[in-house]
Amino acid sequence: MKVSASDRPWDRLACDVLAIPVRSGKPLEGLQPLDDALGGWLRDAVALDHFEGKRDTVLQVLTHGRLPTARVLLVGTGAAEDLAEASRRAAAAAARQAQALRAKRLGIWPGAFPPTPEVAAALVEGALLGAYRYTRYKPDPTPSLESVEVVGVRGAAAAVRRARVLAEATYFARDLVNGPPNEVTPASLARIARQLGRQEGLRVQVFGPPQLRRMGAGAILAVGAGSRQPPQMIVLDYRPPRARKTYVVVGKGVTFDAGGLNIKSHEGMETMKADMAGAAAVLACLRALPALGIPHRVVGVVGAVENLLGEAAFKPGDVVRALDRQTIEITNTDAEGRVVLADCLAYARRYRPDAVVDLATLTGAAIVALGYHAAAILGNDRDLVRSLVEAGQRAGERLWELPLYEEFVEAMRGEVAQWKNSGGRYGGAQKGAAFLRAFVGPHPWAHLDIAGVAFLDKQEGQAPHLPKGATGFGVRTLLRWLAEG
Ligand code: BES
Ligand code: MN
Ligand code: ZN
Repeated sequence: MKVSASDRPWDRLACDVLAIPVRSGKPLEGLQPLDDALGGWLRDAVALDHFEGKRDTVLQVLTHGRLPTARVLLVGTGAAEDLAEASRRAAAAAARQAQALRAKRLGIWPGAFPPTPEVAAALVEGALLGAYRYTRYKPDPTPSLESVEVVGVRGAAAAVRRARVLAEATYFARDLVNGPPNEVTPASLARIARQLGRQEGLRVQVFGPPQLRRMGAGAILAVGAGSRQPPQMIVLDYRPPRARKTYVVVGKGVTFDAGGLNIKSHEGMETMKADMAGAAAVLACLRALPALGIPHRVVGVVGAVENLLGEAAFKPGDVVRALDRQTIEITNTDAEGRVVLADCLAYARRYRPDAVVDLATLTGAAIVALGYHAAAILGNDRDLVRSLVEAGQRAGERLWELPLYEEFVEAMRGEVAQWKNSGGRYGGAQKGAAFLRAFVGPHPWAHLDIAGVAFLDKQEGQAPHLPKGATGFGVRTLLRWLAEG
């Protein structure tokens, strides 16, 4: 899709739909000249349809040749307190509506919103995020949008280009997470990483079972033992000249989580192809770094593995040794993500990083706590957690901190090994994070439990830029955090 921004006046754009964000209670604010051009039709339609500008509602008016656009679409934004998020939502709603109308060319004019580069970028980001569809195995019968042009703005070219990079990275993550688990395997993630390395100039290393054995990465090997697909630890290294800081981003890449011998119920297993959403976010992030010119060294570490029930599968009672020589007693094979991440987090220490951030669909408990509307964040460093929460705010991705009390660490101490991988039902997200903390080095670290937000069973009740299925959660937060940190 072509995206652009220009200072072209709103009455000069030939398109199929011209969308305009409007605030609740003021659906005609700043639109008098437009209403005049339409001979009062806009005001009539607002009155007739009782259009108030409530969030995510739309009003369509045909122009019958009075303007070069075929239709005007007012998009409600509610109070629009967060201008960027209101712009993303409005543009996403407009893009979805335009696609439903089989429109090809979408124009967006900020209307009463300030015509700044930030607003233009948020409009482009939202339109792209809202227009996303996963069509690899079933083409969508309604045609896709061909172009989005934001009009009436100046000096927005660079901001719009960045927004496009963020949206494309999010598409990349969504495609991987929506991909079926017979296609998206540990080996295919490794292949994709190598390809990214060639395309983007990243150094990529892939450790399969022989290397993992040599390294002493017994934890990821144990989780992978029940599958014919060999586990892979994938490392991508983006190292710009004169890099300022070194950050490591770690992703849980369980390409299918059947639960292992502690097998999941059929409902529990239904969406478990999405258990590699953390890994997808990490790959998508690394892919976008060169285009954004991020001034830091960023290392992506992905633990890619399938959690199945083959005859060699790890068992409750097994004791495994992680990369840092610490021992783990397996008390539940369905708490596999933390076991995989133990090796990845221990590996991350080698870079002496300024900070490590991991993303993982780690616990059902994070969904119990926060529903489908925020990721849990926990960590060992106030400033790091705060900077990530703020980056999430700018991205429109909610991160809500849960406490990492010492009691949760105590709950994860093992009987026969140093640690156990499950520690009772209550406070599950905190206990999962407490286990991870044991494998983290002396550096600042934060853990994002994205179990509730990475994959949506239904679109209802969600923002228009979050489709059913994979959301790509985390990609835009990570990139904003790296760009501004
Ligand atoms: N992948 C799941 C967590 C999950 C659940 C993600 C639902 C997305 C939606 C994880 O591997 C898991 O099974 N966690 C267990 C941990 C428990 C056994 C300590 C859980 O949350 O039940
Ligand atoms: Mn599991
Ligand atoms: Zn899992």
